Amino acid sequence: MTHNDIPGFFDWREFYKAAFIQVCESFPEPQTIQIVELGTFFGKSSCFMGEIIKESHRDVHFETCDLFDTRFANDESISNFVKFNLQNNDGNSWRGLVGRYLHDAGVLPHVLLTTADSVHLATSYADESVHLVYIDACHEYDSVYADISAWLPKVKTGGIISGHDYDRKSVQRAVAELIGPVSVTCERTWFKVK
Ligand SMILES: C[S@@+](CC[C@H](N)C(=O)[O-])C[C@H]1O[C@@H](n2cnc3c(N)ncnc32)[C@H](O)[C@@H]1O
Repeated sequence: MTHNDIPGFFDWREFYKAAFIQVCESFPEPQTIQIVELGTFFGKSSCFMGEIIKESHRDVHFETCDLFDTRFANDESISNFVKFNLQNNDGNSWRGLVGRYLHDAGVLPHVLLTTADSVHLATSYADESVHLVYIDACHEYDSVYADISAWLPKVKTGGIISGHDYDRKSVQRAVAELIGPVSVTCERTWFKVK
């Protein structure tokens, strides 16, 4: 099993590969690379990052978080998607199913799967300590604004802050107000080197 077998909305493979290489080159060993992903969903993107880390043999701390609660799963289409995918899965919880996917793909040792609110998780990281953060939780303006506000100070100078759904006005507005001009890749991934 690989990330390809996991359901989800993941269209930024090239960005994850390039960003990983960039932070590894900018921050050489023995430094531990710290990567955070906000919005796990079923773990498709997390699994892909786990596969990259596994191949790299670099010392990496990679944490992905989600509320794993359909009441807060962005919108109805996402919660319906979750309910549909949980239907035939032996009574697994949403989080339990993600853990099983990551285990079956052989990346669980490389992915720290956390049930947490994306803004709250930032309190467990020191300022200037994260090399790469990818924001893909709730896409409403207030939420993206709160995520960027919480995580921008956590990113190291020379590290990368990034996120998904740049085709949405809500995301563009929050990014413009807090970061300014950014680069866009893989259609709707925005990023900025701090
Ligand atoms: C678009 S999905 C993430 C897609 C995922 N990266 C993939 O590869 O398929 C957004 C996820 O963010 C989660 N989410 C929404 N608000 C959140 C919050 N405040 N904290 C953590 N996760 C949140 C939702 O539960 C949902 O699973």
